[in-house]
Order: sequence, then structure tokens, then C-alpha cells
Amino acid sequence: MASIGIFYGSSSGVTKGVAEKIAAALEVEDFNVFNMEEDFTDFDDMFAFDILIFGCSTWGSGEVQNDWRDPLLDLDNDKPSFAGKTIALFGAGDYKAHGEQFVSALGILHDKFKARGATLVGSFPTDGYTYTYSFAERDGRFVGFPFDNINEEDKTEARLAAWLDGLKGELGL
Ligand SMILES: Cc1cc2nc3c(=O)[nH]c(=O)nc-3n(C[C@H](O)[C@H](O)[C@H](O)COP(=O)(O)O)c2cc1C
Repeated sequence: MASIGIFYGSSSGVTKGVAEKIAAALEVEDFNVFNMEEDFTDFDDMFAFDILIFGCSTWGSGEVQNDWRDPLLDLDNDKPSFAGKTIALFGAGDYKAHGEQFVSALGILHDKFKARGATLVGSFPTDGYTYTYSFAERDGRFVGFPFDNINEEDKTEARLAAWLDGLKGELGL
């Protein structure tokens, strides 16, 4: 069976909480769940898995969560190959205070890992979301699973279940 690793960056714990739910749903053991701040050393940590699920909230104005910054710089500089790796994305945002860059970090991760040869899966419909602009929106869909636990936490569970259903189908799990 394909191995799954979850890597997340989360400043106030929102993306972390969803990472733990994804891990439970996909039966990913705790030691295969990496907090980018504490557990990530280098890309070899990621290369151990066939399927990578990356969590990243959006900060600044459409920027990646702090713990993803250095790894993405290393990705740009060292240009490791992610060919043969399948990557799905998820991340928190706030559509009311930051609807001009809603969950845009997912778009950044999408482009950077696609450029390194990865296959990106797990896009999600934009239906039911409100925002002005998102760099994570491509051809009418988000490139990963966005959630907003600041304003609409009540919707996250059903959205997550729908995303996981689609993802499992795509991955043949
Ligand atoms: C200073 C600041 C900047 C933010 N910028 C964005 C943004 O550009 N886009 C967005 O969707 N959310 C933005 N947010 C909202 C965070 O993504 C949101 O609070 C999220 O729940 C944090 O998740 P985390 O705890 O996993 O890091 C911002 C929040 C703060 C405090």
C-alpha cells in the first residue's frame, strides 16, 4: 500500500487540528505526521512517502505560514525532484478579514511543488465559499482543501468529509 506522510505548518493551531483529523481519517500514524516547525529536517523526510499531504495556513497578505518559508526557499535553490510523488494540499484562512487573498498559500505550494515534478491532487469546488480573490483558485476550483475556522467552523467537518471522499477516490484508497 502507498505510504502517506502529512506535513503541516500552523501558527495558532487551526491547520494542526485539521491535520490531526486527516491523519485519523486516513489512518496515518502519529510518527508520519510532521509539524514543519518541530519535526521537519529536510526533503528526505518527504521522500520517504509516496503520497504527501501538505497543510499550510495563509498569513501576511497571501503568504505561506512561517514554517514553510525556509523549506520553500530551499526548494527554489536546491531544486529537488518530486517526480513520482503525489501531493494534496489543505490549509486555513479567513475570508472576512483576508478575503482579498483567501487561502492563497495553497496556490503557492501548488505551483512550487508542481514545478518540481509532483502530481497535485485533491482540488475542491469553490461552491459555498465567499472571498474576493484567491491565488489558490484555478479554473473555478481550489487547488486543495480550504477551511475557515474563524468565521465558519461549523462548515469545516462536512467540507473535510467531502474532500476526503474525493481524495480517497483519486488515490484509490
Ligand atoms: C496577520 C494575519 C494575516 C493573515 N493573512 C491571511 C491571508 O492573507 N489570507 C487568508 O485567507 N487568511 C489570512 N489570515 C488568517 C489565518 O490564516 C487564520 O487565522 C488561520 O486560521 C490560521 O491558521 P493556523 O493556526 O493553522 O496558522 C491572516 C491572519 C493574520 C492574523
